[in-house]
Amino acid sequence: MGEAVKITVVGSGYVGLVAAACFAEMGHDVICVDNDESKVRLLNDGGIPIFEDHLPILLKKHLNSRLRVTGDLHSAVEQSDAIFIAVGTPQGSSGAADLSYVEAVVSQIARCVNGYKVLVEKSTVPVYTNEWITQCMLRNRIPRKNFDVVSNPEFLREGTAVIDFLHPDRIVVGANSQRSERLLRQIYETLTSGRYYAKGDSLPGPLSAEKPATLLATSAQSAELIKHASNAFLAMKISFINAVANLAESVNGDVEEIAAGMGLDSRIGAKFLRAGLGYGGSCFPKDVAAFSWVAQQQGIDFHILEEVRKINARQQDVFFNKVRSALWTLRGKKVAALGLSFKGGTDDVRESPAIDIVKRLLDGGCTVSVYDPVAMDRAKAVLPPSRDLHYTAGPYTAAEGADALLILTDWAEFAQLDLSRLKGTMRFPIIVDGRNLYKPGHMFEHGFSYLSIGRPAVDRIPVSTERRLALGVPNVTTAFSRPESLQPLGDAGSPTS
Ligand code: UGA
Repeated sequence: MGEAVKITVVGSGYVGLVAAACFAEMGHDVICVDNDESKVRLLNDGGIPIFEDHLPILLKKHLNSRLRVTGDLHSAVEQSDAIFIAVGTPQGSSGAADLSYVEAVVSQIARCVNGYKVLVEKSTVPVYTNEWITQCMLRNRIPRKNFDVVSNPEFLREGTAVIDFLHPDRIVVGANSQRSERLLRQIYETLTSGRYYAKGDSLPGPLSAEKPATLLATSAQSAELIKHASNAFLAMKISFINAVANLAESVNGDVEEIAAGMGLDSRIGAKFLRAGLGYGGSCFPKDVAAFSWVAQQQGIDFHILEEVRKINARQQDVFFNKVRSALWTLRGKKVAALGLSFKGGTDDVRESPAIDIVKRLLDGGCTVSVYDPVAMDRAKAVLPPSRDLHYTAGPYTAAEGADALLILTDWAEFAQLDLSRLKGTMRFPIIVDGRNLYKPGHMFEHGFSYLSIGRPAVDRIPVSTERRLALGVPNVTTAFSRPESLQPLGDAGSPTS
């Protein structure tokens, strides 16, 4: 135990690059392989293709000592005992994960095998992928005794990926042989023994030498299902709170209070109960669809996943209707949009609700000024600047002359805006907040009309309930009015006293 393992990580995306850097940090000898030559060059020149906290420090510390980056898969495999596959598994047209990249990599690995190797699935893959990888190796004439396939799903979140990797809630190892399980235990030993946390220069996080990481050994199928089921469950939690938010709003409740009240129940937990624009990113939308597809293939009734997806899609309509209710007509309006990434802390704009909202505004005839602290370069690839779409240098520039300002991503800096300055620069002081970063009462005091998710709107300019209902916005109340006809629910027929 405790010995360095020779590891290859195939793929230098969010999961692959973070895993490679963290394995080096844990003391292993790591080769990160990518077939994108420009990425390999960039990394070897000290550049980093993604924005991820702590990653620059780890790469600087380990590159060209314990960590090498190359395009040469053959020599990497020959030199390694464990080969982690961390390539993309995008959504195919049926909703199923497209595993062609995984298959291509496995076939290539098979051509380089020069002794016993453990292939490790790190990419998010459907159940039985482990079996398919085994078949693929056998078809390529690799004797069964020369390899094992382990499922070791990754649970890191973009934005906090390095700390999630080094301080994991759990490490899941789905191995079907003792030999391969032993190797995986050796790889993670520095975290499970607590040795990493006892080092003077370890990155701090929730775990410690006294409370080290937990490793759960399962079958390969269970490990594959744990990953899909975890992501689907978290997505369900978000859709659940968004549905509650819409209900809360229609009865003049406050979803933030409700989430706090629910989250204090230790069986429910406070995390992932933030109502907003719905989930986005490269994982939840794809994984809910893929898990649903797996269930369908097995003839299992798992329709709840379809409802999760539907609620999530509707959440953007709910938000967009709020924008329309604030602006009345869209054509010719100037709107400021803060945030483009799918969540704060990352430059990733894949499946970002923010991008979709900006597209809808442009389609509606608005001029949009956008600002994001790190995602603007990436956003330009999917939303090119134009006569109607301006990329700006900061939130106050974006807000200049705006008819309304929208908060679309939960960046910390958007929760600390200078409200007086903001109000001074806008044409009308209207904010529609898709991330609930402010308290409605606070915004009202600062002279804003403020609409958020699942909480009473506060309007400096009263808007009739009829118009809101016509627009499909739930029955929100203004700072000037109480809902006119509040009926007790569940007893609609009885007279109110
Ligand atoms: C997610 C999981 O959280 C990770 O555990 C998993 O490893 C990863 O997918 C993956 O499969 O690779 P990630 O996509 O980076 O991580 O982002 P999350 O922090 O989970 O957020 C996903 C989306 O849900 C974001 O759009 C976020 O804004 C939204 N969200 C999250 C909410 O709307 N409300 C919440 O309470 C939490």
